[in-house]
Amino acid sequence: MLFLLKQMTARLMLAVGGAVLGSLQFGYNTGVINAPQKVIEEFYNETWLTRYAEPITAGTLTTLWSLSVAIFSVGGMVGSFSVGLFVNRFGRRNSMLMSNSLAFLAAILMGFSKVAYSFEMLILGRFIVGLYSGLTTGFVPMYVGEVSPTALRGALGTFHQLGIVVGILIAQVFGMDLIMGNESLWPLLLGFTFIPSLLQCIILPFAPESPRFLLINRNEENKAKSVLKKLRGTTDVSSDLQEMKEESRQMMREKKVTILELFRSPLYQQPILIAIVLQLSQQLSGINAVFYYSTSIFEKSGVEQPVYATIGSGVVNTCLASCDQMAWMSYISIIAIFGFVAFFEIGPGPIPWFIVAELFSQGPRPAAFAIAGLSNWTSNFIVGMGFQYVEQLCGPYVFIIFTVLLILFFIFTYFKVPETRGRTFDEIASGFRQGGASQSDKTPDEFHSLGADSQV
Ligand code: GLC
Repeated sequence: MLFLLKQMTARLMLAVGGAVLGSLQFGYNTGVINAPQKVIEEFYNETWLTRYAEPITAGTLTTLWSLSVAIFSVGGMVGSFSVGLFVNRFGRRNSMLMSNSLAFLAAILMGFSKVAYSFEMLILGRFIVGLYSGLTTGFVPMYVGEVSPTALRGALGTFHQLGIVVGILIAQVFGMDLIMGNESLWPLLLGFTFIPSLLQCIILPFAPESPRFLLINRNEENKAKSVLKKLRGTTDVSSDLQEMKEESRQMMREKKVTILELFRSPLYQQPILIAIVLQLSQQLSGINAVFYYSTSIFEKSGVEQPVYATIGSGVVNTCLASCDQMAWMSYISIIAIFGFVAFFEIGPGPIPWFIVAELFSQGPRPAAFAIAGLSNWTSNFIVGMGFQYVEQLCGPYVFIIFTVLLILFFIFTYFKVPETRGRTFDEIASGFRQGGASQSDKTPDEFHSLGADSQV
């Protein structure tokens, strides 16, 4: 324990903290359109009326709203797929810094959409902040995974998800009627996107570039060494360097790994399948049906103050002021959703994000992130866009679809996903090179020796 704490240096915390401001931004924009749905729809209605001299139809409004919610994930798809274009060229940290320009632009578009009477600006802003978020879902776990010492990689990896959840929660609280989720202040609520990006631009320049990028991609051993010394708070960084060099040698032996190669080469087929399925299990659990639409879900199940319940699903352990006014069904819906969110945050929430860095070595890592990100965001889009329609068709039974999918994903994970805890990137990759579909059965020692053998 003491050993772990000692590894948690100020520099490492700064690097991880600065990076996960991006995750917070992503979370903020995931949660921000939930609470003010009604007031923004009202703005759509008024704008429509002014432009076309007739009220908007219910169908068009559902379409426009679903689009405003879900275009965020279209941006996410494009962004996450483009991760590889940036990280190897500009480095991990600089890529994060550069991407903030997208968030600034989105903040302006969304923040001024009301004065410009333009829901198009809002929708475009959601697309652009989606682009930013898609990039972030690649940049942050990659950077955090690469700056962390092996023993802390999993723990620090969960900070990405923590940042997301905190962002969602802030958005839900700010989105309350009393604060900014009202007719006059909602543009400010959306424009707040500016703030995490500004903070990140201030903090991140003090954080180091990923030592793995410096050594493996840039071949700048001295720089990598000095960064490692700062991150680890010690002058002896030989074991880290050794591990990276081993990974680098391994990478030289591998051909350049393209996205197609990931699917063609038997070396990567299994890890890429795992990466994709875990992303699907995260999204098709229906988590974002909750975070995008919980206010209206709670409303339909009879909750009198749906915004509070929405915040509760962010806090998970809140007590509700207005409990006594609710029928028992609404309690059940609240408990079910809180429980669902709590369990989600233990497993399918954080793990898919950092496991991609663990399943692939440096060579295939950017391509793998692109594919994993694309799968995540595509399924995010399907839920965001389709939820309201499917709910109209099958009512509350919509959640049964998610349940069935979750059971299937559980079975897959149980049988196919290997344990990665405490193993170096290279050991994990070696496990796959041995073709171990049943690696999950192996003890860490057995797994370790598999990895060692394959180096001979
Ligand atoms: C995960 C998902 C994201 C979701 C969040 C909820 O990070 O990727 O889409 O909103 O969890 O906590």
